[in-house]
Amino acid sequence: MSNIEALKKELVDTVKAANDIAALEEVRVSALGKKGKVTDMMKTLGSLAPDERKQMGQALNLLKDEISAEIEARAALLRQKEMAARLQNETVDVTLSPRPFAQGTLHPITRTLEDLTAIFADMGFAVKEGPEIEDDFHNFTALNFPAGHPARQMHDTFYLPDVAGGEGDAAKRLLRTHTSTVQVHVMQNQKPPIRVVIPGRTYRSDYDQTHTPMFHQLEGLMIDKTTHMGHLKGCLIELCKRFFEVDTLATRFRPSFFPFTEPSAEMDIGCSRGKDELKIGEGGDWLEILGCGMVHPNVLKNCGIDAEEYQGFAFGMGVERMAMLKYGIPDLRTFFESDLRWLKHYGFGPQETV
Ligand code: DAH
Repeated sequence: MSNIEALKKELVDTVKAANDIAALEEVRVSALGKKGKVTDMMKTLGSLAPDERKQMGQALNLLKDEISAEIEARAALLRQKEMAARLQNETVDVTLSPRPFAQGTLHPITRTLEDLTAIFADMGFAVKEGPEIEDDFHNFTALNFPAGHPARQMHDTFYLPDVAGGEGDAAKRLLRTHTSTVQVHVMQNQKPPIRVVIPGRTYRSDYDQTHTPMFHQLEGLMIDKTTHMGHLKGCLIELCKRFFEVDTLATRFRPSFFPFTEPSAEMDIGCSRGKDELKIGEGGDWLEILGCGMVHPNVLKNCGIDAEEYQGFAFGMGVERMAMLKYGIPDLRTFFESDLRWLKHYGFGPQETV
């Protein structure tokens, strides 16, 4: 009997020493398995006298039950410990701010377009868009560029193969060189009064510090019965004050030429240039920022609008140029290089608003 007591103590000790489920399973096999210590003792019962066998058999059965119970209790404790350790390791702190993980930024072009269209929206302009693959009619002819006119050459146009079987300027396809094309679509499809701004991509075959083959423009068009140059100037001055966030702004409208406007002008804004900085608002210098004018009567006629009854103004600006001036970005090409350091530096977080 003392044998059994000794074995019980030994087995209980090894159960308690098992520190994980796998070790505990080994202990179970070594005690109760086919070749286990308790099983081995069971096998000796046959050689005992009947009385002794009975007593020993009962004692061994009891031992088996006790050891099984010990193992079960230990297993429950170990499973609990394992679960606690897992919960500890896999904890997610749901109160952490997502900011450190927000790697993306809004591109300065996206931000500038949003700011510009928001300012025009406040003045009652709707936003319109149009196709980037255009025909010669919408890009040139309807806008009063006569066939062979030198102004066509100045656009460095990317031409596409002509529409098969097509004829005339509607069959000549190209990547639009300016957003003025959408003026034509709007006037063809909408009766005046018209008050729209048109953001979008434009394309020209040119590449240097101030030119890229793809760039963005924002076009404006307003047509009504009494719309005049004063309205045009008022809208554009308000735009520049709000966009550049200045209260006083010197402006100048210089005579210019565009086939689709008459008279045509270029708008300059005042600035002062320091050694390493450009301050917009006032000062001895001027910056050219956009082209504009009164819509040419030929354009109204080409788009099916009665030029005796209606008149209006139009303007077009380079979006990259507006962004470069506002944020001090020196080279246009960097906008499209997708350099992560540049994007982090000039990009905007989604939470920041105007
Ligand atoms: N389309 C012209 C360009 O790309 C810009 C422009 C000038 C647009 C005068 C206009 C405008 O609507 O009236 O150079």
